[in-house]
Amino acid sequence: MQKITVETTPIEGQKPGTSGLRKKTPVFMGPHYLENFVQSIFTAIGGVAGKTLVLGGDGRYFNDRAAQVILRMAAAGGAARIIVGQGALLSTPAASNLIRKRGTDGGIILSASHNPGGPDEDFGVKFNTPNGGPAPEEVTNRIFEATRTIASYDILEAQDLDLSVPGEIKLGETVVEVVDPVADYAELMESLFDFDAIRGLIAGGFTLCFDAMHAVTGPYAKAILEGALGAPEGSVINALPSPDFGGGHPDPNPIWAKPLVDLVMGPDAPDFAAASDGDGDRNMILGRGIVVTPSDSLAVLAANAALAPGYARGLSGVARSMPTSRAVDRVAEALGIDCYETPTGWKFFGNLLDAGRATLCGEESAGTGSDHVREKDGLWAVLLWLNVLAGTGLSVADTMRAHWRAYGRNYYTRHDYEAVDKDKAEAMLEALRGRLGDLPGQSFAGRRIEMSDEFAYDDPVDGARSTGQGIRIHFEGGARIVYRLSGTGTVGATLRVYLEDFVDDPARLELPVEEVLADVISAADEIAGIRARTGRSEPDVRT
Ligand code: G6P
Ligand code: ZN
Repeated sequence: MQKITVETTPIEGQKPGTSGLRKKTPVFMGPHYLENFVQSIFTAIGGVAGKTLVLGGDGRYFNDRAAQVILRMAAAGGAARIIVGQGALLSTPAASNLIRKRGTDGGIILSASHNPGGPDEDFGVKFNTPNGGPAPEEVTNRIFEATRTIASYDILEAQDLDLSVPGEIKLGETVVEVVDPVADYAELMESLFDFDAIRGLIAGGFTLCFDAMHAVTGPYAKAILEGALGAPEGSVINALPSPDFGGGHPDPNPIWAKPLVDLVMGPDAPDFAAASDGDGDRNMILGRGIVVTPSDSLAVLAANAALAPGYARGLSGVARSMPTSRAVDRVAEALGIDCYETPTGWKFFGNLLDAGRATLCGEESAGTGSDHVREKDGLWAVLLWLNVLAGTGLSVADTMRAHWRAYGRNYYTRHDYEAVDKDKAEAMLEALRGRLGDLPGQSFAGRRIEMSDEFAYDDPVDGARSTGQGIRIHFEGGARIVYRLSGTGTVGATLRVYLEDFVDDPARLELPVEEVLADVISAADEIAGIRARTGRSEPDVRT
């Protein structure tokens, strides 16, 4: 097998965003596009000679072919071993686990997460470091720098490997180890949770529905929920990963997982329902008659984690991204543990988890996880919920009621304005930035502003400073508005407006969210001039 060196030139725009490099699939399939980026990852980590990497993806269109290219490039670079999921599949949390468990030099994950897949949809590549987490900015900056100076890449001239059977294959001098994508992950879950208690719950007639959304968690959920825990066959739906996710968005929220919402609100509702996203790191939790917001889910899990054996010794601390509601802050206060507020993006939790400062982390964007891996983990959240419900014997709805009674309720919603003209969105935020100093003391929609700033984060572990992480407006009484532009969108700009109000009056804990937040919502438009500046009268998505 011959190594060839292919001359190339830098390609514009290969800057990793919130979670790796995401582009339209045809862009990734364009000449040298994937190869340039992969070679730049290798350059950024000092080459792959003698190294061991993990490789896998969420099964979206081009996943299989991209994996073959990366294997040939890693072999050309002299990698010692590549651990690849069977069929080139690995959920993001399972990849994170393998990277850590096998003591590797990192891994490459092929995914655009919850974005749709297919020949005209999205594709993505991200690099995770040896701790199993998404590469921090210092590494992604090096990758980006390498993409700007690249002149050639190395690749082995070889045929595609058969990745359909576990075992070892030699590719040049590199060992390609094909592994069952589920086994190690399932073992990890069993070590954290009381499987006997969950089995007992299910055997006692507790019903559940897990929607894998035609994405990568299908095989994991089948093996664990139906296999190990005894849920009846059919409890996991849309379980077969498909390259275009059945033509849908594999995004577990009330918009894209509407059938699941309809199910829990209807007459045949199971006791518990959940969904995960394209690469298996996000989650949505539902119960009969209720959809749990991700922010509330984090708070409930933090309050009850000790029911699971893996967390019985208590939590060292918790962390949430800044736009996530402050429900978990109240739990941390009650538990007497630290609560960290980080910028959006799971990578910001890495240092806190590595340093043992936080055990549980979560984001409003349907991400929850712990120090068991360095990614958010959809199925893990489902299993922790099941463990909690098995322990308390409460329904999901009663769990939420009890939580709100104990801690008060942070009513919360997010309004997204998609594909907004980038210049207009940026101008709007720039104008707001200029007024931050004048806003405190002013009232909008009857709410008086107490504090306004642009969020910046100083990492307490390595001191790194991240600025420009979203504009925060705090009101007297606990309401809050946050404005930020998405770092994962692929078309124009996506403006996210995060709206929150705190209520602890026992008579007001179960009102419709949009009713409680009505004046905060109008204040958000008045303060920033969303309608006037973007021309949009309504958000495209409310989550
Ligand atoms: C990805 C990241 C998350 C982040 C989310 C939202 O899923 O892994 O950590 O919260 O994107 O990002 P965005 O910039 O689109 O709001
Ligand atoms: Zn994801």
